[in-house]
Amino acid sequence: MDARSASDLDVIRVPGVDRLPEGEARLVLFPRHGDGPPGELVLCRVGGRLFALGSECPHEGGRIAEGPLEGGRFAVCPLHQYKFDPRDGEAVEVECGPARTYPVRETGGTAEIRVGGVQGGAR
Ligand code: FES
Repeated sequence: MDARSASDLDVIRVPGVDRLPEGEARLVLFPRHGDGPPGELVLCRVGGRLFALGSECPHEGGRIAEGPLEGGRFAVCPLHQYKFDPRDGEAVEVECGPARTYPVRETGGTAEIRVGGVQGGAR
């Protein structure tokens, strides 16, 4: 029996994040309530901290990429090369709304990401 409450489902845990190097981003899939497709976010390490960006680009729906961050700081959407700051989701040097961000807490090599909460960039 699944004893998780609805609020438990709003937090996902990603182990092994201590192996995510500075200036890198990794794609994370997570289940959503109901039968829809999984959610996607990009977990980024900047300045030694973890940040989570929704992978859906707010420009025209491209997919923000995992891999090395540009300049070690910015996540990039490969469709039109827009850059986003993982710390707050803001677009860099272009007129565009922010990418969705999620609160992250890192404890003991595991990231706890509150996918039910949204910081800025709510769409
Ligand atoms: S769709 Fe992402 S930059 Fe255009």
